[in-house]
Amino acid sequence: MIAQRQDTENPLGPEQVWLLLLELRHAVRTLSMVPGGFGWGLDAGQPAILSAADPAAWVTARADGSWTARVPMSETGAELLDLYLSVALACRSRPLTVAHLGQSLDGRIAATNGASRHINGPENLTHLHRMRALCDAIIVGASTVECDDPQLTTRRVTGPHPVRVVLDPRRRLAARYGLFQDRTAPILLVCDAALADRPGPGHAEVIGVPCTDRGLHLPEIVRRLHERGLCGIFIEGGGLTVSAFLQAALLDRLQIAVAPLIIGSGRPGITLPVIEDLSQGLRPHHRRYAMGEDVLFDCRLHP
Ligand SMILES: NC(=O)c1ccc[n+]([C@@H]2O[C@H](COP(=O)([O-])OP(=O)(O)OC[C@H]3O[C@@H](n4cnc5c(N)ncnc54)[C@H](OP(=O)(O)O)[C@@H]3O)[C@@H](O)[C@H]2O)c1
Repeated sequence: MIAQRQDTENPLGPEQVWLLLLELRHAVRTLSMVPGGFGWGLDAGQPAILSAADPAAWVTARADGSWTARVPMSETGAELLDLYLSVALACRSRPLTVAHLGQSLDGRIAATNGASRHINGPENLTHLHRMRALCDAIIVGASTVECDDPQLTTRRVTGPHPVRVVLDPRRRLAARYGLFQDRTAPILLVCDAALADRPGPGHAEVIGVPCTDRGLHLPEIVRRLHERGLCGIFIEGGGLTVSAFLQAALLDRLQIAVAPLIIGSGRPGITLPVIEDLSQGLRPHHRRYAMGEDVLFDCRLHP
């Protein structure tokens, strides 16, 4: 339910904007609305998705993630729309793949022993849960499950849980991990097609894809997820997995949350092949968002 707005004097706050984003996500995915433009406002006194041309719309949103408010909007509400609107609008005709890494000032995503829990602050954790709620599928690499055994649910925010996807090409992960035992949301295990005939681990459904000496065929993984209607894909780590998707040019956006912390050693964030000259480095268009003590760089890799 969208909280009903009592007046048009007070600016729309982040809670209302979050509910708007969830409502848009739902409309795009379940009502097969063509994402050319939406409005959100009151219809016969009830909060509803409206046509962009409807004068009752408080906020209108376009498919490219841009938006206009016809009523006062709080600064935090506006930031939420800027950061999340295009994620909420992911659909078959406009799929979106976003990756995120939280790292120290010196580019580490974990200590050498794999500990990574307190690199970023609580605001960034809430951001991760928002991204999970707006996306359809969340991908992690086998080493992240091994080190963190994450739940990959949306406990900190209102919103649906994503389908959880683990890349474990060699099937080295045992069924004992909590992720494979938990039925909160579906879980898919992606492995080398040659190993896909064995069921499990735990409740995981196994998907086999071709594997070469460069690893799993990532475009095929994305294709198989889209085929299931999972068109908003969030890659939450670790560094090897995010780097592989970046190198394969499969990311629309890369989000890096930098924490004011120096670890000095440990597991790296992005690692790509060696370049000869800095002009060959990537300088993506980006926006910065303050998240508590952290700074999130939201980089657009494709327009
Ligand atoms: N700070 C953060 O944002 C963050 C987020 C997540 C995780 N972490 C931390 O990061 C560490 C794990 O990250 P990581 O970079 O070492 O590993 P990772 O990305 O979690 O997992 C890498 C493994 O996943 C499989 N994999 C991933 N992409 C593949 C591909 N394209 N083809 C085939 N296999 C693929 C491979 O398994 P095989 O080894 O079996 O081949 C690979 O070694 C942990 O310490 C975790 O706590 C931090």
